[in-house]
Amino acid sequence: MQNKINEIKQYVLGKIKQIKDLKDWQTLRVEMFGKSGKFTELFKLMRDVPAEEKGKVGQILNNAKQEIENLIVENERKMGEEELNKQINSAEKIDITLPAEKCTGSLHPRTIIQREIEEVFTSMGFVVEDGNEVETEYNNFTAVNVPENHPARDMQDTFWLDNGQVLKTHTSASQNRILKKYAPPIRAIFPGRCFRNEDVDASHENTFFQLEGVIVDKDVSVGNLIYFMKEMLSKIFNKPVEVRLRPGFFPFTEPSFEMDVKCPFCDGKGCPTCKNGGWIELCPCGMIHPQVLKNGGIDPEVYSGCAFGLGLDRMTMLSTNLNDIRELNSGNLKLLKQFKIK
Ligand code: DAH
Repeated sequence: MQNKINEIKQYVLGKIKQIKDLKDWQTLRVEMFGKSGKFTELFKLMRDVPAEEKGKVGQILNNAKQEIENLIVENERKMGEEELNKQINSAEKIDITLPAEKCTGSLHPRTIIQREIEEVFTSMGFVVEDGNEVETEYNNFTAVNVPENHPARDMQDTFWLDNGQVLKTHTSASQNRILKKYAPPIRAIFPGRCFRNEDVDASHENTFFQLEGVIVDKDVSVGNLIYFMKEMLSKIFNKPVEVRLRPGFFPFTEPSFEMDVKCPFCDGKGCPTCKNGGWIELCPCGMIHPQVLKNGGIDPEVYSGCAFGLGLDRMTMLSTNLNDIRELNSGNLKLLKQFKIK
């Protein structure tokens, strides 16, 4: 064994004389200690050493390994430092204080519209909150009053994780956390990415964006909901808009509505965007269910609230005239880059 070790040491010393750069050190290290390295092979011979000598031979082998490993690692480190210093002192200098070159990228159209909507709501005293993408079953369903046996909890609609959590299926999943975080009066919006196990087509995506809003105070009414939505839509479409409410159903609101906006492109006369109906279905909403307020630690006898869940993709499609939701997640830069400004 000692002879074999000596042979290897001689070999290493010979190799070291020929080393030119960092890569050569790395190669030598692998040649010694890699999977079928010379030293690794030596360790395999330990199998045949008689039991009473194993301790002694093992120690010799380990010491030799340490010695050679230190030699290689130390030199590798030194050469690495030298190479780095050479780079730093060479013409290849990078001045990190220089301003960046003009940015040629552009915001995603959905980001543009999201920021515009956020701006309008913040000007009306709303805070902008963030939500989790991975949510507890409680926040996504139970806290917002979705009953245990509701089909929305099904495998078809919801991406369940192995640990029992879900990819949030709607921004309403953040309601409970926000109600608990702020005491009334509350005005908050929370945009976010949502996921549903949907078949994808021109108007359905498995990954989509919503922008949720809640208003909680004493004497909040449907009138407040209409006021805030009209304000926001008028600013986004750059003209006064008309809205109407139709009855809807959601477990977290009572009463629940579907809010339509009179088509801002044809003023209700009928055009391809409103499919000649004159109205565009835009935003489910309603008065927050007393149980949802209670779950958020708010006394429904004292406070009332309204909520809405705006489809951000839908808003983006309206303001860009895109008619296929799949374009928004497509990464089709040629198309998406066109929408630098609205
Ligand atoms: N979470 C609902 C959905 O994704 C949308 C919604 C409806 C949100 C009514 C609301 C609301 O805040 O009041 O289908």
